[in-house]
Amino acid sequence: MFAVDELKILISHEQIATRVAEMGREITADSRGEPVIFVGVLKGAAVFLSDLVRQVQLDATFDFIGVASYGNRAAPIAEPSRVWDSTGEVRLTKDVDHSLRDKNVILVEDILDTGLTLTFLKRLLLGHQPKSFRVTVLLDKPSRRKLAVEADYVGFTIPDEFVVGYGLDFAEQYRNLRDICVLPNISPEMEQ
Ligand code: IMP
Repeated sequence: MFAVDELKILISHEQIATRVAEMGREITADSRGEPVIFVGVLKGAAVFLSDLVRQVQLDATFDFIGVASYGNRAAPIAEPSRVWDSTGEVRLTKDVDHSLRDKNVILVEDILDTGLTLTFLKRLLLGHQPKSFRVTVLLDKPSRRKLAVEADYVGFTIPDEFVVGYGLDFAEQYRNLRDICVLPNISPEMEQ
């Protein structure tokens, strides 16, 4: 593990707060007074979701979903139901608690990287037949994309660096950092 003071800040907590407030205003304006349900992807999006929902001036509720992609470096707790699709293996570790049918759903994800997770989640959640479906991500690493999938709201587009903090982890560590920091020298083997 790296000491926190060895980490370089990529996006400061002040920059995050400013951008999250802007995103909240955009979502509020685009939703035209209709109620929305935010669905946060565990665990990385929990911090972002909690700040974002407080910047939205709408009737809003929230729910959480949990997935683990094959190759994700933080190995999930063994879970019997494995879901396969053409994007590879994605495991549902926690489903939403409420039906999303006829709801205005906003999926909240920490980071869009290869696009495998988001592709899986979009397909899964569109199966609920929501009234509308939008995706918001705090970070986007477009250079790593394997599948053509985009978010409706993006906080920051970042280069191909492994980042931690503000909910994002490395082996479950660093989620509570208030800034988004670059973790140095992360090899693909270490990410597994
Ligand atoms: P994707 O399926 O490759 O788009 O990956 C999405 C997931 O990978 C995110 O929800 C994160 O859990 C994880 N991830 C991707 N890049 C990073 C990173 O730089 N830091 C921490 N987690 C990451």
